[in-house]
Amino acid sequence: MNTIVVGLQWGDEGKGKIIDYLSRDADIIVRFQGGNNAGHTVVCGGKKYIFHVIPSGILHKNKICVIGNGVVLDPKVLLDEIEYLKKNGIDISPENLKISSLAHVIMPYHRSLDSFREAKREQKIGTTKRGIGPCYSDKIARCGVRVVDLLDCDTLAFKIKDNLNEKNPLYKNVYGAAPFSFNDVFSEYNDYAKKLAPYCCDTVEYLYDKRKKRFLFEGAQGTFLDVDFGTYPFVTSSSTIAPNAGVGSGAPFVKIDRVIGVTKAYTTRVGEGPFPTEFDEKMGEQIRKLGNEFGATTQRPRRCGWLDLPLLRRAAILNNITHIALTKLDVLDSLPQLKYAYAYEGKFKKFSAFPHDLSLARPVYKTIEGWHCDTTGVRGYKKLPRQVKNYIQLIEKFVGAKVQYASVGQNRDAIIKKPGV
Ligand code: IMP
Repeated sequence: MNTIVVGLQWGDEGKGKIIDYLSRDADIIVRFQGGNNAGHTVVCGGKKYIFHVIPSGILHKNKICVIGNGVVLDPKVLLDEIEYLKKNGIDISPENLKISSLAHVIMPYHRSLDSFREAKREQKIGTTKRGIGPCYSDKIARCGVRVVDLLDCDTLAFKIKDNLNEKNPLYKNVYGAAPFSFNDVFSEYNDYAKKLAPYCCDTVEYLYDKRKKRFLFEGAQGTFLDVDFGTYPFVTSSSTIAPNAGVGSGAPFVKIDRVIGVTKAYTTRVGEGPFPTEFDEKMGEQIRKLGNEFGATTQRPRRCGWLDLPLLRRAAILNNITHIALTKLDVLDSLPQLKYAYAYEGKFKKFSAFPHDLSLARPVYKTIEGWHCDTTGVRGYKKLPRQVKNYIQLIEKFVGAKVQYASVGQNRDAIIKKPGV
């Protein structure tokens, strides 16, 4: 079985936990986009692990983790993550971690530009300031540094020179910042190259050789952060949706059997941008506390809101999902009633599609009975309260896909599989 896991909202849906759970039945786990703007938290054996670059499948023995060509890679962050995992007793080596030599490398001038731009913009995006946007911009502008370029001193040198020739005057004249020194950047990255070299490979050939194995593609961020279909410009700079798994991994030959869209039982968003079903301040604070809604990467408080069914339906279409994983149901345990958006209303009419121009439409809500009891100890679908099952049915009907997994807590065993799905 080959599976893609993607987020249906604005990221942080709990993909890391679902991927960790599904990794048991996969041989190869592949990341295909994004970079260390992502943050997956996985709790395993009472221990909490936070991942930014390496697929969370690395926690399992005998699995191969691949960082695909569609990822943008900050070498320092990756090397630190390798060290952190090694220190925590996780087996990690070039045998089980493969990095595409075509992945683009995040350079120090990308990180600076990300911060400078945010500081100058009137309309802030609220980026993670990890250099993601500028790195993808350079990739498209054809002046990026790929892993393969990093490994060759001469290429690395001329690429850094070309980039600094263009960027240093910009930094100085537009942002009033000190120029980058060629020697500093070159020697730092040359050093990373030596450490990363054993992990790098032609992942296209590698994955093609292994095409009969069981694949799990790990999406980062979420559908509404997608550069094409998200709430532009408040998006990330990559294609976050399932169809990009083939391009971002160089493994379009893997036949996909299942696309799991992960959604929380409510909605969250970090950073700026429209969020039609956002709670008022008091309710936002309550759910943020209950759900511990703070960014795994930037520790920023997440904005929280009601479930938005038109948004989920749009995400289901874009990702062509076959199944849903519904996470953090337990966070809503204390609520006697739940609201959800079932339509949007413009000036003249009501419609069920998620609108492109959110300034012209507002969500319309219905209310459903909450379960109002502790679900954190529930194990087994049958034991879920009737109201949880009603909520699940409502989502399934609107979105047009079955909930295969529902989760009621942080631990691996808090994931409940729906029988027969
Ligand atoms: P960037 O990806 O750092 O450029 O940030 C662009 C937008 O995407 C900002 O609103 C970030 O908060 C958001 N973002 C990026 N990565 C994640 C993620 O993994 N989870 C949630 N939001 C994210």
